[in-house]
Amino acid sequence: MDMKPRKIAILGATGSVGQSTLALVRDLNVAASGHAHEGPISVEVLTANQDVTGLADLARGFRPERVVIADEAKLGDLETLLAGSGVDVAAGASALREAGAGEADWVMAAIVGAAGLAPTMEAVKRGRTVALANKECLVSAGAIFLDQVKRAGATLLPVDSEHNAIYQVFDFDRPEAVEKITLTASGGPFRTWSKAEIVHATPAQAVAHPNWSMGAKISVDSATLMNKGLELIEAAYLFPVEPDQIDIVIHPQSVVHSFVAYRDGSVLAQMGSPDMRVPIAYTLAWPDRMDAAVKRLDLASLGTISFEAPDHDRFPALGLARGALQSGGAAPTILNAANEVAVAEFLAGRMGFHEIVRIVEETISFMGQNEGIGTGSPTSLEDVLCIDRAAREWALKRSGEVAAA
Ligand SMILES: NC(=O)c1ccc[n+]([C@@H]2O[C@H](COP(=O)([O-])OP(=O)(O)OC[C@H]3O[C@@H](n4cnc5c(N)ncnc54)[C@H](OP(=O)(O)O)[C@@H]3O)[C@@H](O)[C@H]2O)c1
Repeated sequence: MDMKPRKIAILGATGSVGQSTLALVRDLNVAASGHAHEGPISVEVLTANQDVTGLADLARGFRPERVVIADEAKLGDLETLLAGSGVDVAAGASALREAGAGEADWVMAAIVGAAGLAPTMEAVKRGRTVALANKECLVSAGAIFLDQVKRAGATLLPVDSEHNAIYQVFDFDRPEAVEKITLTASGGPFRTWSKAEIVHATPAQAVAHPNWSMGAKISVDSATLMNKGLELIEAAYLFPVEPDQIDIVIHPQSVVHSFVAYRDGSVLAQMGSPDMRVPIAYTLAWPDRMDAAVKRLDLASLGTISFEAPDHDRFPALGLARGALQSGGAAPTILNAANEVAVAEFLAGRMGFHEIVRIVEETISFMGQNEGIGTGSPTSLEDVLCIDRAAREWALKRSGEVAAA
């Protein structure tokens, strides 16, 4: 099938989602022209945080107009690596924001964490089609983000496999016909571990996801099930349902990506191999469909698929996230910020796995009790960033105390 020509930007090109996106672009362009940099998809801009070598390699392969490295200290290295290539090089926070504000008609938002919020918002403001992998944007700034999507007439396409699945089977013309939506969760690497074993989980064990190959932060989130908590909040913003209409079920094989249950008893699900290129291809070709060289789902050889209820005692992050969604206001912003800090502290080996959720819980509780810091609802992006900063400071201080105890 011929692909409509597109100019694209990839925010977070060196990461797992960024690279999966570029793998699809390579396949499409090579099929059309024999070259990764020539064909229906032209790349305007690619960004990274610190990985100059990875970004320079991608720039040589895809020949974007510009590359942006968020860490200004790496600008010199990047300039050296791309000298004579004809690719424009920039660095820093404002260059990153501008990367979202360019001419690309399709923008992949695949920066990890709230760091992706400002550049993604720029793409939204310009009314682009935004493929949203960065769930932290919605968790942190949901109402403000969606208000901007509406005002600018942007198109938001969910990339998270669960939300992409629901997007594909949700009847947006008849939302009242939907009884509930169910997000599936693999259960992560500690699904069968006891509470006592989970306490001693190491960073290497936490990032070893059984089904998906992903960046370190989302892998740890999958191990605590905070990822499903963030997705619960993301779903509440993306779909016209109430929080109590969103369920979570553990499905260890990760082939049923989510369900929509209708009032007449029908349940529609979207299925596919656990490969992010499937939902990314959906967003890249939308509203059409494209050929994608991904492993086909073979149900006969899979044999059995199973489902089970989540265990809230061993995985308290789920309840914490649902509580933050129900409290509203600044709670989801605080939850997200504290989680980013706690996961980084755990990955750096300074804190135990079970302490991640404790830090998040204590940060929400502290900020909720201290008037002026985390009680009011954010009404602007600046408010969100201010609450995010305060939550990070407190979570970091508390992580230090916990590590020292
Ligand atoms: N991986 C998946 O399968 C998957 C599935 C669903 C949703 N998501 C979501 O997609 C997003 C990306 O996940 P990922 O697994 O692709 O993450 P990842 O592999 O860690 O990649 C993150 C990307 O963001 C860049 N980045 C990190 N910190 C940054 C900062 N402060 N400023 C600017 N850029 C920064 C990284 O650059 P460097 O390489 O230079 O560090 C990299 O390009 C996350 O929000 C995640 O929840 C991922």
